[in-house]
Amino acid sequence: MAQSMNASQHSYPTIERQRLLQELLKAPSNYVFLLEEYTGRTISRLAWGSVEPAPQLRDAAFGLLMAISPSGAVPNVVSWLTAIPEFLSPWKRAEKIRHDTEMDFFKEALDRVQASAAEGNIDPSYAKMFLEGRGEKEWDEKEWSYLIGMMAIAGALTIASPLQSYIVAMCHYPEWQTKMQEEIELVCGDRCPEWSDREGLPTIRAVAKEILRWRPPVPTGIPHRLETDDIYGEYFIPAGATIHALEWGICRDPFMYPDPEAFRPERWLNKAYPTFREPLTMYPNLKNYHQFGYGRRVCQGVEIVDQELFLVMAGMAWAFNIRKKRDVFGKEIDVPDNKYTSLLIAKPEKFDFDLLVRGEERRRVIEDGWEEKENVMTKKLI
Ligand code: HEM
Repeated sequence: MAQSMNASQHSYPTIERQRLLQELLKAPSNYVFLLEEYTGRTISRLAWGSVEPAPQLRDAAFGLLMAISPSGAVPNVVSWLTAIPEFLSPWKRAEKIRHDTEMDFFKEALDRVQASAAEGNIDPSYAKMFLEGRGEKEWDEKEWSYLIGMMAIAGALTIASPLQSYIVAMCHYPEWQTKMQEEIELVCGDRCPEWSDREGLPTIRAVAKEILRWRPPVPTGIPHRLETDDIYGEYFIPAGATIHALEWGICRDPFMYPDPEAFRPERWLNKAYPTFREPLTMYPNLKNYHQFGYGRRVCQGVEIVDQELFLVMAGMAWAFNIRKKRDVFGKEIDVPDNKYTSLLIAKPEKFDFDLLVRGEERRRVIEDGWEEKENVMTKKLI
């Protein structure tokens, strides 16, 4: 993953952003599917060098999400039910089917990369890196197909949650959309921002970081189990206990985040806030952000998240004005600002909004920017 970061993710997030903007222009009400398709296609390219596995990856990621969520299988919250043997447990039988389907999918995806590699021409990916760098060691096929497949699953749906929260935030805090657009105009003129512009665009980075704080994609945090007894403050916590570092609460700590319920990207840009850091060419960024866990098991995908959030939010601000929809009398239709789904990765329930392209010239550039037939970017966005 470090290698693909150094190669700036092989431009995959940028290439796919071009397609996303075109698809959003055609069918804005399909935004949930399109944003999830964007993240799925991008990570498919990163994992296997191709968009072909993306639809199956989406199903696999949803299946896993259901399996691990407190609101998914009942034994996830009524833990003694896990003792029931498989022939009596509908959850164990369903999980076995899910797992076997996932394993077949991961193996087939890698088989395809191996077959293309044998023909000599494959795009960069984690799979390609593995094939070229695995050395003499005998690898168990299951082990390495999972090694790559789980990276893909972890990146398939997660980032789409803050991208959807971004639309909610822009409906409620349109002044930040204007600030982003003004900053883009100042730094990039008429051109759509690229990853290489990020140093000059701290407002975009601040909006991305504040979206994650305001509506954390994993509000319960990922559970950890204690290896040994521990004492924290006045609490004794026995070995074996499951602990959730509750992101929702941490993000609402009023000392670290004054006025925590409000969407305030300025807390990352203004010296008056405890979260401000200089230089603004570098900060804010997502490194060491508590949203991504702690210590040795910290999220491996932070750089991908950083790049995809930046590119899509900047691209949408460049291309569109997002606003609340109007009814036939011209009255704004409300957008719920905190109605989220209940799975481990929470996302806003679907809602209506207007997505208005910012002028005919930008419409033309977006329409010309992607060739579906060839699956490639035809032009850089001006
Ligand atoms: C907004 C998006 C994301 C959020 C909020 C997020 C958050 C997290 C969190 C909280 C953990 C648990 C860390 C712990 O055990 O304490 C985690 C683990 C992980 N994440 Fe992410 N993640 C995101 C996107 C991604 C992406 C895009 C990838 C990969 C492409 C990824 C790959 C992983 C992996 C592999 C782990 C397991 C690390 C380990 O157990 O050693 N994540 N993530």
